[in-house]
Amino acid sequence: YVIGIDIGTSAVKSVLVSEEGQVVCEHAESYPLHRPNPGWSEQHPEDWAERTIVSLRKLMEKSQADPSDVEGISFSGQMHGLVLVDAEGKVLRPAILWNDTRTTPQCRQIEQKLGGKLLDIARNRALEGFTLPKILWVQEHEPEILSQASLFLLPKDYVRYRLTGDFAMDYSDAAGTLLLDVAEKAWSADIAGAFDLPLSLCPKLVESSDLTGTLLPEVAEAAGLLPATKVFAGGADNACGAIGAGILGEGKTMCSIGTSGVVLSYESRKDVNPQGKMHFFNHGEENAFYVMGVTLAAGHSLSWFKQTFAKESSFDELLKGIEDIPAGSGGLLFTPYISGERTPHPDADIRGSFIGMDSGHALKHFARAVLEGITFSLRESIGIIRGSGKEITEVTAIGGGAQNETWLQMQADILNADILKLESEQGPAMGAAMLAAYGCGWFPSLEACAKKFIRPAEVFSPNPEQVKQYDGLFAVYQDVYGQTKELN
Ligand code: XUL
Repeated sequence: YVIGIDIGTSAVKSVLVSEEGQVVCEHAESYPLHRPNPGWSEQHPEDWAERTIVSLRKLMEKSQADPSDVEGISFSGQMHGLVLVDAEGKVLRPAILWNDTRTTPQCRQIEQKLGGKLLDIARNRALEGFTLPKILWVQEHEPEILSQASLFLLPKDYVRYRLTGDFAMDYSDAAGTLLLDVAEKAWSADIAGAFDLPLSLCPKLVESSDLTGTLLPEVAEAAGLLPATKVFAGGADNACGAIGAGILGEGKTMCSIGTSGVVLSYESRKDVNPQGKMHFFNHGEENAFYVMGVTLAAGHSLSWFKQTFAKESSFDELLKGIEDIPAGSGGLLFTPYISGERTPHPDADIRGSFIGMDSGHALKHFARAVLEGITFSLRESIGIIRGSGKEITEVTAIGGGAQNETWLQMQADILNADILKLESEQGPAMGAAMLAAYGCGWFPSLEACAKKFIRPAEVFSPNPEQVKQYDGLFAVYQDVYGQTKELN
């Protein structure tokens, strides 16, 4: 067996995976998120470490697996979160998470100081969620803490350190810090130097499938595992999500609809520079990359709609009958900016809208329009990738958005691509388990592992008529952003 551990924002999930790629057992343990001030979002790294060990113990108890059959462990983790540790590995303050928005002034400062250099080196814009702005916030507001820091880590790297005693960070996660030269796979002395940060603050860089150590004896005992269990570096949750969905090779693209929505496309070239319109990060596969666009409120738009207008219904009841409404929801159009947007508009202030209401519209027209609006937003990302010269003819759908057949067909028609639904999906934890399986030498490549572990179940092909109709509506959708910008 191998174990994949996903350090999420609300919980840690561990999965035990067999050599056949079957998830034989899984267990999740949750931890709190603290919001001590408006816009702040923090967690205690100790909670992650402690709950991870508990989740491993429960996984071993539930599965009754023999510890000597567990060959390796690897990780997936929420990206960007800042953990500062001193020379003894002691955590100096609570972790500042990816969804913390206190750092707008630091982002401005970074963009002003580095200008185009930031996009050339880090390949991403300075966004509040990323790590460097958080380090600068601590530098400005808690200088005594930064001066005690000997290293900064990302969430899964801290947990791995607690399990093995070794410090390391993999490229896919380091890419979300803004301190990495993404194409050259090295810390950027230029960026660190511009803010008087010593490079010694940056941990050793490794590949996601590199062996970083074995379990500390006391951890192995508490987790019900053997100290010889190999521990592999692991990757960012989006990179692991991609691995777990088989996005391993040119032309592979996924569309993941959860609370937020992600379009992610594999990229083998290191010279791609989406000029900040999309994220460009290192993949968990060696020497590969991916471009990624984010719809902030994807599934969240649908759950907000249900909560506000159809509280008593289940999602199935709410979506019942939408397949009978023609494409375009009878002239009703929704933009999913209910909590701002990231791609293609990095705009925290924009808000959503319903336009084209008719007295004949019923609740199900609105429900369908919400799904269409979310999918239009994801098409913006697909459009940017296609604009860079890449052909996208097939997209793997995962997350909640892959659970409804009408929505899957809608994705085929709006994205104008075959939509692949997988037989079973375990998300980033599966990607982490695959990194361990590959690291253990079970397969010659991650791609070979994916061939065995990931099976497509169904394909939804675009209907040319609907594609044409949605093309027209998408042009209207794209206009709404500019027209509603002044509303707030
Ligand atoms: C990516 C991002 C999120 C976190 C959350 O840029 O902010 O997807 O990784 O898990």
